[in-house]
This record gives sequence, C-alpha cells and structure tokens, in this order.
Amino acid sequence: MTQNVSYDESTEPLLSVNDLKVHFNVPRGKLPWSGKATLRAVNGVSFDVRRGETVGLVGESGCGKSTLARAIVGLAPVSGGSVRWRGAETVQGARRDIVPLRRDVQMIFQDPLASLDPRMTIEQIVAEPLLTHQPDVSRADVRSRVLTMLERVGLNAQHLRRYPHEFSGGQCQRVGIARALIGEPQLVICDEPVSALDVSIQAQIVNLLRDLQRELSLSLLFVAHDLAVVKAISHRVLVMYLGRVMEFGEKREVYATPAHPYTRALLSAVPVPDPAVERERRHLLLRGEIPSPLSPPSGCAFRTRCPDAIDACGETPPEAVVRGAGMTRVACIRAGVSAT
Ligand SMILES: Nc1ncnc2c1ncn2[C@@H]1O[C@H](COP(=O)(O)OP(=O)(O)OP(=O)(O)O)[C@@H](O)[C@H]1O
Ligand code: SF4
Ligand SMILES: [Mg+2]
Repeated sequence: MTQNVSYDESTEPLLSVNDLKVHFNVPRGKLPWSGKATLRAVNGVSFDVRRGETVGLVGESGCGKSTLARAIVGLAPVSGGSVRWRGAETVQGARRDIVPLRRDVQMIFQDPLASLDPRMTIEQIVAEPLLTHQPDVSRADVRSRVLTMLERVGLNAQHLRRYPHEFSGGQCQRVGIARALIGEPQLVICDEPVSALDVSIQAQIVNLLRDLQRELSLSLLFVAHDLAVVKAISHRVLVMYLGRVMEFGEKREVYATPAHPYTRALLSAVPVPDPAVERERRHLLLRGEIPSPLSPPSGCAFRTRCPDAIDACGETPPEAVVRGAGMTRVACIRAGVSAT
C-alpha cells in the first residue's frame, strides 16, 4: 500500500494525521447478553508534526492520548482516517503498512522499568533495535554506538553489563531514551515519559529530551498531563478532550491567549510561581466529571462542562476554525466571542 510519493522536506510535515478514528467494540454491561457498545477513544483527530519540532499532547486522563499515539505506530486498531509518514500513506482506515515508519519512529513509555526486559543487560536492551534494523553493523560498531549513546543520556561503560532492576526510575528512563535513539529515528513518541518519576528527576529527563531534540533535529510527539512540562518542551500544543482536538497551535499563542474554554480551564489550574500573581488569578474550575466516551454529549464534546455553552453547542461537533497570527485551530463555535 505504500505509495511512491516524492517527499518535499521544505514544505511537507514529517507526520500528517487526518481525521483519525479509533473505535473499540466493548461489552455494554457485565452480563454476557448486555451486548456491545462503541467506545470512541479517538474520534476524528487531525494534526501534523514538522521536522525538528516538538508537539505537546495534553488532556485529562482517558481523553485518548495514548490510543492516538499507539494508533500512529500501528499498535492500536484504526477505524477511519489516515496517517502519512514523509508523504507515504501508512494507515488508511483499517489498512496499514507501518514498514516505512518502523525504523524512523520510536516510542518512549511511561513506566521505564516495566518497558525494559528484566532478563537483558543494558547493553543488550540498547543494542536490540540497532541489530533489528541494521543487522550488517559489526559487533565492535554496535558496542561503540551503544556506549556513545549511553554517555549521551548520562550513563557510562560501567552500566553496560547491569540489569534494569539495579537502576532508579530516572536511570531506567535514560536507558529507554538511549534504546529509542540508537537507530537514529526522526520522530520519537514519548507517552508520559516523566509522569512516573520524582518531580526532581522529571526536570532532568525533560531537559535531556529537549537537548537531544535540538542536537539531533529530532521531532517529538510529547504526551503529558502536566501543562508546565509541556510548556517547557513544546513548539506547538495539541489539546484533546473525549477523543477530539479542542485546540492546536503555537505554544506561545495557546498559553498566552488560549481560545478554547477547555484550554483556558486547564491552564487556569496550573499554579503560577509568583505568590502575588497567583493570589490575584481567577481560577476556572472544570465542573463535573469527564463524560464516558461510550456516551459522549451531542454536538460539542465539552459542552456539559463548558461555562460558555449555548443551545447551539448541542447541535453538531464544531468544525475547527483558524485564529491568530500562529494559525491556531480551535474547535469552538464561540472562539473569540466568549469571555471566560
Ligand atoms: N484496548 C482498548 N479496549 C477498549 N477501550 C480502550 C482500549 N484502550 C483504551 N481504551 C479506552 O479508550 C479511552 C482512551 O484511553 P487512553 O488510554 O488513550 O487515554 P489517555 O488520554 O492516554 O489517558 P491517561 O492520561 O490516563 O493515560 C479510555 O476510555 C480507555 O478506557
Ligand atoms: S462549542 Fe460551545 S460548548 Fe463547545 S467549547 Fe465552544 S462554547 Fe463551549
Ligand atoms: Mg495514556
């Protein structure tokens, strides 16, 4: 299915996701005769990632961040839409051909210890992708590249023969990063890579990823709950709610003038370091619970919690409109009108 498309590096995004849907058929209740229901984990998501940029992906728990990340690399079943990698269609509806992106796209996971094979040494873990994708590389070359990569992530030759359980969470995540980068990928999808780590270690790992991204001109899709972490690392930010994109735009614009009521509520919950400023700030509380993706609200997915909702919001899901100098895309019929 891979098309022979010529790829223009100057204009084409590396990754283009278009109207992607991941719908799961799940049991409606606990009893066998309750029947099946459709859970719309990802429900028509479009965005792109350019060469050398970091796109931060945020949203409350269960909004579909991990499912979207997994669908891009062929680890979750796609029900509709498409994924293009360097101009070639890798996913189109239920059909997929992830060969073009297997070497170019790598993932880093949330739980660093669980994502490393406990029976393998650090050297074997880091070398494995290289041996899989470049089997002709000599043993001496493999060792030297593993060592260079370990040193680049803050580890050293003494760690080569050790096992994952001998390492702290932060060190395990450094091993995970070395393993992801050894084959020189172009895009790394990081699914909450720091949320299982102590706060003091989180900043070290975020800084390491940011330095690597700059040095290697890597593209990152960085999934996180924490908007402060996303602000530190991202160029553009994608805000998801109940499987849909609420806002997608340049970080500065989204953080300085958030256009979607959901983005405004998320940002207003992030504390400001200056206590005087913090005391004066108006906090927008997110009312109620996030609805079940088994029975999302009609129209705008956010309308049951939105302080700006009007009757028209229940009619159809809002189309994304383009706003501001940064061409931010906002899925809200009142974008620019509401004053929350
Ligand atoms: N394999 C699956 N089968 C059925 N439902 C699933 C499956 N994987 C995920 N889901 C559901 O899809 C929705 C989105 O889950 P997902 O893990 O993508 O959310 P998330 O945004 O990554 O959440 P978190 O921030 O907690 O990691 C949830 O309702 C989840 O229960
Ligand atoms: S479309 Fe309506 S309910 Fe949805 S975010 Fe905008 S104002 Fe709120
Ligand atoms: Mg997740």
